[in-house]
Parts: sequence; C-alpha cells; structure tokens
Amino acid sequence: MTEKIERLLQRVEEFSPRSAAELEEFRIRILGRKGELNDIMEEFKGVAPELKRELGQRINKLKTRAQERISELKGELESRTAEEGGTIDDMTRPGDCQPLGSRHPISLVRNEICGIFERLGYTVAEGPEIEDDWHVFSALNFPPEHPARDMQDTFFIEKNPDILLRTHTSSIQVRTMETHKPPIRVVCPGRVFRNEAISYRAHCIFHQIEGLYIDENVSFADMKQSLLYFVREFFGEDTKIRLRPSYFPFTEPSAEMDISCNLCGGKGCNVCKHTGWLEIMGCGMVDPNVLEACGIDSNKYSGFAFGMGVERCSMLKYGVKDLRLYFENDVRFLHQFDTAI
Ligand code: PHE
Repeated sequence: MTEKIERLLQRVEEFSPRSAAELEEFRIRILGRKGELNDIMEEFKGVAPELKRELGQRINKLKTRAQERISELKGELESRTAEEGGTIDDMTRPGDCQPLGSRHPISLVRNEICGIFERLGYTVAEGPEIEDDWHVFSALNFPPEHPARDMQDTFFIEKNPDILLRTHTSSIQVRTMETHKPPIRVVCPGRVFRNEAISYRAHCIFHQIEGLYIDENVSFADMKQSLLYFVREFFGEDTKIRLRPSYFPFTEPSAEMDISCNLCGGKGCNVCKHTGWLEIMGCGMVDPNVLEACGIDSNKYSGFAFGMGVERCSMLKYGVKDLRLYFENDVRFLHQFDTAI
C-alpha cells in the first residue's frame, strides 16, 4: 500500500497538463468521489491497526500535496494563456480604446502656412539649427561691427563666435541662394533661438517661417500681392494689410506688415492695443549685397523676402494669450487643437 501511495504522489508531481480541461479531468480522477485517493481510503479501512498511524500520515500528505499541486498548475495555465493573448470569453465586449495623439498647434499652423505658399508655387526648404556666422549674419549684410547684430541676442556655442544657434531662418535662404539658380521660391520653417527673457509674449526658443522669391523683374508690388493673398487665406477673406517702413540689414526697402485686427474687426481692442492693427511680419526687397554674397547677379535678378513667427500667428488665429503654453505640453491646452485643421 505504501508503494501505491508513493506512486500516486509521483504521478501528481510529474503531471503537466496542456489545457485547463486536462487538469480538471486529472483532478476528478485523483481527488473525485470515485477517484484513486478514495480507493486508497477504502483499502486503508482494512489495514492492520499497528500500520494505521504511519499509513494515515502518508495518505494525508498525499491528499494535501495533490490539492496544492492542482492549484499550482491551474495558476500556471492561467498566466500562460494571458501571456499568449488569452482567450476571448465575451465576444461582445468592446475592445480597449487606444487614445489617438494629435498634432501640436505649432505643427498645425506651420503646415497650414507652408501649404498656402506651396499653392503659390513655393517649395519648403530646411536647414541646420547650429549655424555659422556667415549664414546667419555676414552673408545677410550684417557688417562685423554693425549695431544691427545687437538686434538679435545670439547663443554662441562654446565661446566660439563663429558657431551659433540660428537667430532666424534667413540662414536657410542664404543656403538656398548659394546652391540654386533663380527663379527661387522657397519657404523656410524652423526653430530659432534668441537670448531673451521668457514671458507671455517672448521665448528664447520659437518658430519662424521665412520666405524668399527671386526672379527677373520681381517688384515690391509682387510682394504686397503675395502677402495679401497669404493673410486672406490664413486669417480670413476680409483681412486688410498695412506696410510701415522699417529696417533690416538684408532688405532695402524694408517694411513691417500689420493686419487688421481679426478680433475687433479694426475697431480697437485689448489685443491690438486699440490701434485696430496687429504686427505680423517683417519683409522687404532683398538687398543687392545679399544677392551678390550668395552668387546671384543683382543686375539681372531682384527678389523679396519675408519672415514671421509661427507662435504669434497661432496666438492671433486661435486667441492664445500666453506664448509659454506652446512649450509646456499641458494636454488640457493641446486637446483643444485635436480637431483643428
Ligand atoms: N529675419 C527677420 C527676423 O528674424 C525677418 C525678416 C525676413 C525680415 C525677411 C525681412 C525679410 O526678424
């Protein structure tokens, strides 16, 4: 009888079911009312009294171990099916929803602005964020000691005055002129860096889109018409523009372009500081010195350039009051743009 008990114990230890059904079958065969353990109990009734103590202990041990082993195997089977993807017990249960991400408002606005110019025949050009002095300043007619360099507080890399973070994406326009022959029509989106104090209206990192159009006989009137088309597409059909004389080393003449305030319709409000106008970009005719520095014949070709801040355009279009929101990535802010564009 001892042998019988030990053999059964060994079978219990070695049993390895492939499915829950197989395990259940095994459980009934061993522990069930008419199972093998029961047979042993029946046989136990007839053993000699002096053997009862020892055999009784063995049978008890077998029973506890069999129960233990069966629940161990059950646990193993469950975790194995969960790993393999589990079994579907309720086909009507809704699936797990994967929340969809959305584009950042800066990307949305950048894509929209580039799209408008692409429809006018412009292509998109990009360039490095770490630049050299030539592409950011010198080729753009900033003489070495010219006070215009102070207009843009620059981050230099490792105290080397030649290597810096670009302060505007005009550097991409220089690279385009150096490598392409006119006619040139490009828009240059990108991140730019200026050493400025961070506030609701300024940040040391922001995004720009600049544009460049070079061909024979390009005039100031062409620029005005292109920019008017752009603002009407972006801010709405009724938008008006106004050009004020300004100064940039790389354009002559230069202008600052304002649009009629789309919030108060020009009547005057807090956003336009009661002027009815909002400043949105700098522009002008490319200075002949810049064309020559980039290897373009300034007697044959002329062109215009413009540049605007993407955050500013987005703030004006969507009524965002604090520029810092674009960098904080608070999903309560970002979710408001889920369905935009
Ligand atoms: N580069 C100027 C800036 O960063 C913008 C600009 C571009 C102005 C082209 C005129 C012409 O402010």
